[in-house]
Parts: sequence; C-alpha cells; structure tokens
Amino acid sequence: LEAETAAALDAAGDLRAWDAVRIGLLGKSGRLTALLKGLGQVPAEQRRERGAALNRLKTALEARIEARRGALEAAALEARLAAERLDVTLPPRPHPPAGAEAGGIHPISRTIEELVALFGAQGFSVAEGPDIESDWHNFGALNIPEHHPARQDHDTFYLPALPGANARRPVLRTHTSPVQIRTMVAQEPPIRVIVPGRTWRADHDATHSPMFHQVEGLVIDRGITLGHLKGCLIDFLRAFFGIADLPVRFRASYFPFTEPSMEVDIGWDRKSGELGKGTDWLEILGSGMVHPRVLANCGIDPREWQGFAFGMGIERITMLKHGMPDLRPFYESDVRWLRHYAADP
Ligand code: PHE
Repeated sequence: LEAETAAALDAAGDLRAWDAVRIGLLGKSGRLTALLKGLGQVPAEQRRERGAALNRLKTALEARIEARRGALEAAALEARLAAERLDVTLPPRPHPPAGAEAGGIHPISRTIEELVALFGAQGFSVAEGPDIESDWHNFGALNIPEHHPARQDHDTFYLPALPGANARRPVLRTHTSPVQIRTMVAQEPPIRVIVPGRTWRADHDATHSPMFHQVEGLVIDRGITLGHLKGCLIDFLRAFFGIADLPVRFRASYFPFTEPSMEVDIGWDRKSGELGKGTDWLEILGSGMVHPRVLANCGIDPREWQGFAFGMGIERITMLKHGMPDLRPFYESDVRWLRHYAADP
C-alpha cells in the first residue's frame, strides 16, 4: 500500500488530485481507514502487533501525503508568481491599447500632402498666408478694382473696418491668390510656390461650403510660356488622379489677374462618374499667364519676368479622386465617414 500510495501521490499533478488520493486512504471509506476498522476482527493475540504495524503505516503515509502537499503548494505558488510577474523593464503598452482605433489622416490633409509631394517633385516649395486679408491683397493687387464685376462672383465675407484711416474693410480671403501677391512682394524672382490653404465664400450647399480649401500655384521666371503652364498641369493632373493618359483640355477663359486665362478640363464619363473614360469634359481648375499689371503691382518688371498661376479646389479634386458625392461630410467629423475615407497615419 505504501508503494502504491507513493506512486499515486507522484501522479497527482495538483492539489485537487492530491486530495483525492488522501481521501482514498484516510477518508471515511478510505483504504487505510478500512484496515484500521478491520482490527476488531483480528484475533486478540495478533491484534497488538498488527495495530502497531498499521499505526506505523499510517504515520508513514501521512508523512508522504504532507510532503507531497508541500511540494504541490510550492509549485502552485511558483506558477502564480510566474504568471503575475511584473517586468518593470518592459516597454510601455501601446496607446491607444492594441485593438483600439488609431487616428487617421483626414482626406483634406492627405490631398494636401499629395499636392506638396507632386509639386515638390516639380521644384515647387510651399508658401502660406493669412485667412484675414486686406482688400488690396485679395482684390486690388490682383487687378480686381472696387467696382469690378468679378467681386460679385466671390460672395465675400467682409470684416469690420479697422479704426482710423479710410481703410477698406478686411475680408476672409475668397481664394488663395492673395498669397501670389505676398510672395511676389516679399521675394525676388525666380519664384516657384504652391499655396494650400483655407478660403471663404458665403455659399452653402452639397458642393459648396462657406469654408473650403484651395491650392494656388505660381511660377515666375524668365521666358515662361503657356507651354510650361500646360506641361506642369498635365503632369500634375495625370499623376494626382493616377491615370497616365487622362485627357486634359485647356479652354480660353477670363480671370482679371491672368492674361490669357484658361480653364482646365479633364475627360470623364458623366454618367458613371469615371475619370479618363467617356467623352465628357469636367472643369477642374483655373489658370493663366500672370497679368503684367499684377507683376507691376508687386514691383516685378514684366518685360524681364513672366509667369503662370493656377488655382483649384482641394475638396473638389479629393471628391473626384475618391468618388465622394457630397462635400459636407468633410467638416462633420462623422466617425463612420472618416473610417471609410481616412488614410492610415
Ligand atoms: N483664384 C481663382 C479662383 O479662385 C483661380 C485662379 C488662380 C485662376 C490662379 C487663375 C490663376 O477662382
């Protein structure tokens, strides 16, 4: 019995199995208990000796059982300590924790990043200007005087006039073109900049927002021609939309600050909305050769320097690129829309 018990105790891998062995021996109907109970039936002359032997056996078994309990408890404690160990040398947990949602890049920011990269590859750097502009920067210097009809097209937000002087009221810039003026006033040619930024017009529907974004481009150098303008914009549009043979059309137009002026259309299929397919044209941006009077307004001699400029809506090109039907969700912070359109950081 002692050998059997030793084997059973060795086999008991945890305290539960150990307890079953113990009860099997020492419990009410345990095997050792039964032997001890059986002493009564043993003839009197053998009882003493057998009783002593059973007691030795009981002591020995109890010692084995206790020893095994000690070993199992020590192992259980070891396992718990290992499982609960706090390793203070581990790096911090990621925040937000694994499985939680990380932020994404807003589609407007993503397009601006793409614009900066694509025009950067053509040698453009980035210029910026203020949202609140003087009348002169937003209109006057761009050859849009006080009573010019182009002013009506802009649905301008006017701000209160600054105290003193007979200054014109400042405006929320209606386009990024005032940064053309700021750049030419501040910098000697040659100039090659793009200007992404917020713009403002009092207009609101599915395709217009009172605050929206434009990107302006300006190149001033010696001997710049319409050919440079066309090459620059065709390359950009094909790269941005990822369509190597995207049809691009230049259509004569009018802006007060460029001469000649051209609107730029890209080929698409109006019915399916697919770019580069079908036979329809979609207007996408305004451009032209910088008007000599605008150069002169900025102190640049138009006999020595020529240039071109262009401007386009960032929401508009983003919507076209990603097939977005509505402009308003850009500013609504609806997590479902952001999840769908946001780029990985
Ligand atoms: N500023 C013009 C607009 O907002 C776009 C433009 C920029 C046109 C530069 C020509 C040259 O409509």
